[in-house]
Amino acid sequence: MERDYTVCNCMQVSYGNIVDALRELSDFGDVLSAFEGVKEITHCSTGCGGCHDKVMDIISDVMMRR
Ligand code: FES
Repeated sequence: MERDYTVCNCMQVSYGNIVDALRELSDFGDVLSAFEGVKEITHCSTGCGGCHDKVMDIISDVMMRR
């Protein structure tokens, strides 16, 4: 996925924004708390919520590669 691929259209959050947010969150236990953290930092998924599954997929993907 391209870094500037827009994952959340409502809040204009890109794939790169999410990856960076996850990097900031060095200490998260599971996908759900990571999601909360990413939401706080980037505000993704705080609009229509339509990107929720996409954001979750990206988070689990990044976490698995750690
Ligand atoms: S596309 Fe992310 S909240 Fe609407």
